[in-house]
Amino acid sequence: MPFPITRMRRLRRNETLRRMVRETAVTVDDLIMPYFVRPGTGIKKEIVSMPGNFQWSPDTLAEEAKELEDLGVPSLILFGIPDEKDAQGSQAYAPDSVICQTIELIKETCPSLCVITDVCLCEYTDHGHCGIIGENRDGNPDVDNDLTLEALIRESLAHVNAGADMVAPSDMMDGRIGEIRMALDDEGYSDVPIMAYSAKFASAFYGPFRDAAESPPQFGDRSSYQMDSANLKEAMREIEEDIEEGADIIMVKPALPYLDVIRWAADNVDVPIAAYSVSGEVAMIKAAAANGWIEEKRAAMESLLSIKRAGASLILTYWAKDMAKWLG
Ligand code: PBG
Repeated sequence: MPFPITRMRRLRRNETLRRMVRETAVTVDDLIMPYFVRPGTGIKKEIVSMPGNFQWSPDTLAEEAKELEDLGVPSLILFGIPDEKDAQGSQAYAPDSVICQTIELIKETCPSLCVITDVCLCEYTDHGHCGIIGENRDGNPDVDNDLTLEALIRESLAHVNAGADMVAPSDMMDGRIGEIRMALDDEGYSDVPIMAYSAKFASAFYGPFRDAAESPPQFGDRSSYQMDSANLKEAMREIEEDIEEGADIIMVKPALPYLDVIRWAADNVDVPIAAYSVSGEVAMIKAAAANGWIEEKRAAMESLLSIKRAGASLILTYWAKDMAKWLG
């Protein structure tokens, strides 16, 4: 029934009505907060390209995690920055790695927090790539998929042995979800879920993170393993494959430039969908806010809402802690 019978503005007349017909809400339950941790004690060092975010040491992060838990945020994801990097990324799977130490401390202080770990080699390799370097058929260095799987399995097991509640492989190697699932099951960890970074695009929006994690690739780029921004069908296949291999949660990353991928997943698969609102998405808004061009809180809330509206049920976001405060 068209105007004048129908007047869309009727239900926008005041906040009470708007509240009653609001279709989507971000809640604190949806949020996962990323943290960067490095060896040492008493460290809380602000990351220049990510204002309001810090590199922590295990002890200071355990205190921070308590605050996060008190604010009602259910989960965090950990990224490690080792003192020593090598070609094999061996600190990724060392049983006493900075991540393992941190997991143990957090599980002591906050037993109910869901501690997720990012499983990848890029923060741990001296070349900065997400896997072990081999040679491609042209004789040039390239990440070797199957060699990398072994390291990812060891890394996952190290994290879970230390008490991680969930692992999140972000490397984009083929077959890693199935291999990690089987290895966890073999070791008696059949109840540990895997959140797969399934559709992870080679994105300019990771720029600030690479500063934070001190992990820019020293040669080449990540486009032989991360996805091409132009491809939706390929993202569908990545998501479907990861679910077949046993992913409990699938992720799309970055979030804002890929809302169509999130929407496709929400309409077509039945596992929970996570979206990673990455460092560059935050940086744009923070930088504009610092110039007085945009209101950080409103722009952040609108971004996260759009990700939820697109169909994500979990959002990894550097605003998780702020958001918990804003939501009250
Ligand atoms: C790789 C990884 C990256 C991010 C999360 N995991 C960086 C990359 O692929 O270069 C980016 C997160 C962000 O930008 O906030 N382990």
